Amino acid sequence: MSLTQRVSIIGGGGNVGAAIAYSLVVMQEPVEILLVDVSKKMAEGQALDIRDAAHLSPTQCRSGEFAEVGDSDVIVVTAGARQSPGEPRSNLIDRNYKILKSIVEQIQPIKPTATLLMVTNPVDILTSIAQKLSGLPKAQVIGSGTFLDSGRLRNYLSRKLNVNSQSIQASMYGEHGDTQFVGWSVATIAGAPMLNNPQMANANLKEIEDTIAHQAYDIIDAKGSTYYGIGYHVATLVKCILENGRRVYPICTYVDEYNTYLSYPAILGSGGSSPIHFNLSDEEKTKLKICADSTKAIADKY
Ligand code: LAC
Repeated sequence: MSLTQRVSIIGGGGNVGAAIAYSLVVMQEPVEILLVDVSKKMAEGQALDIRDAAHLSPTQCRSGEFAEVGDSDVIVVTAGARQSPGEPRSNLIDRNYKILKSIVEQIQPIKPTATLLMVTNPVDILTSIAQKLSGLPKAQVIGSGTFLDSGRLRNYLSRKLNVNSQSIQASMYGEHGDTQFVGWSVATIAGAPMLNNPQMANANLKEIEDTIAHQAYDIIDAKGSTYYGIGYHVATLVKCILENGRRVYPICTYVDEYNTYLSYPAILGSGGSSPIHFNLSDEEKTKLKICADSTKAIADKY
């Protein structure tokens, strides 16, 4: 059965890329997945392993070549060096810039309607750079941003408040990095302001924020890297793009007001992303500006 849509995962030989592909299989997404990697053997191995599950799903998965990627509807980039225990994501920029530049050169020409979805860290800075390198419209280049961090936040608040995380609207803003922050002023439980909830009256908001921002470090210390959480969250974004879901997610998106990419709630569909305006508090706007200035200053160097 020929599938009309294709997703290429560059870095598909690694755990994060394979977790994205496996999550799409579990989601029963009818799409052709190409796993592309500098290690062709790893890409082939992951594809063979995932295919053992994919026969129970409409998803197809195979290893592919860089030359095939440009014709994809969604191009996911997970390739690059990853954090060592205790290492901030920002440390990875020089190494991963070189890898990203080489990737974009190898996958040209890119289909004009493609969405480029960055996952490699530091993801907000690399998303900005990927847009320049690829030449795709800003809306069509996005990053996983703080979608995973926001999932961690909703999971934490769900347990604290004994409310299903689906009823919690709360996001991390700014960057998928150490300066990310909670948009407490616009967080709600099914539309009711979060901070008005009696169970939040004595909550240590800074402690919660720090716990979420540093959760990856704890996982990396324990098992060396993270992949299931990011895998499922990125697969959710891929599914939304393929289905033109037009759902709102806190992803790395281009925010005109700040003239750079930021992790910020945006509508996501087949045409890419469109940020929606939240009236954050003055303190939160200041934090957002700090993230924006930092991301822009570093991205402009490349
Ligand atoms: C994490 C990686 C994806 O936060 O940065 O798990």
